[in-house]
Amino acid sequence: MFKNLLIYLAIACLALAQTTVIPYGSPYLFLNGRWDDTDTSWWAGTGFKLVAKNLRMMTIYLGDMTTSPSASVGVSVNYGAWQTVNLTFGANAVPLAGLNSSPLSTNVIRLANEGWQNNNLQLEAVEINGDAIPEVYTPSELNFQFIGDSLSAGQYCVQGVINAWDFVTAENFKAEHSIQAQPGACLTDIDCWGNIHGTLPSSST
Ligand SMILES: *[C@@H]1O[C@H](CO)[C@@H](O)[C@H](O)[C@H]1NC(C)=O
Repeated sequence: MFKNLLIYLAIACLALAQTTVIPYGSPYLFLNGRWDDTDTSWWAGTGFKLVAKNLRMMTIYLGDMTTSPSASVGVSVNYGAWQTVNLTFGANAVPLAGLNSSPLSTNVIRLANEGWQNNNLQLEAVEINGDAIPEVYTPSELNFQFIGDSLSAGQYCVQGVINAWDFVTAENFKAEHSIQAQPGACLTDIDCWGNIHGTLPSSST
């Protein structure tokens, strides 16, 4: 009897230790910016939002098309300050400071590419603790699209686009955003600082 109870407890503990894997394309990953058909991100500010109750850990799994050696992203927990994390091909345990201690409170994790280059994340999946309860993110009705050059891409900013005027504006309005910005870009089809069609050469878009 007691032995059986121990076995049941062991099984229950194993069940609790399990994790939930949320694959790319799941409604529990709200994507913004540009992701291509290899599930790889482009453009500064591209990222995702993940909402979950009782969240304690998050591991991001990236494929081999991820920028090598790493891509810098900002991570914001519950609308707190953006912390820079360098992500690499493989498993990335992301520190999440500022999670709600109450298991009934909802947490919002936001992730955004900082760089205008070296910013490819081939997002395979996000893993969270198995007793977390993911929820579908409800986007703001306000959604900005920004088109711009270095000033909008955050070139030379410490945290890249996260410190740039467009990203900050979207933050202030609590709006969704999509940023198409590249240093030297022009809004007309001319060779502009090496951007042969005003923005990017077609091969790299
Ligand atoms: C991220 O990587 C860059 C270089 O690629 C480095 O300068 C920076 O210190 C790293 N940041 C963190 C938070 O590890």
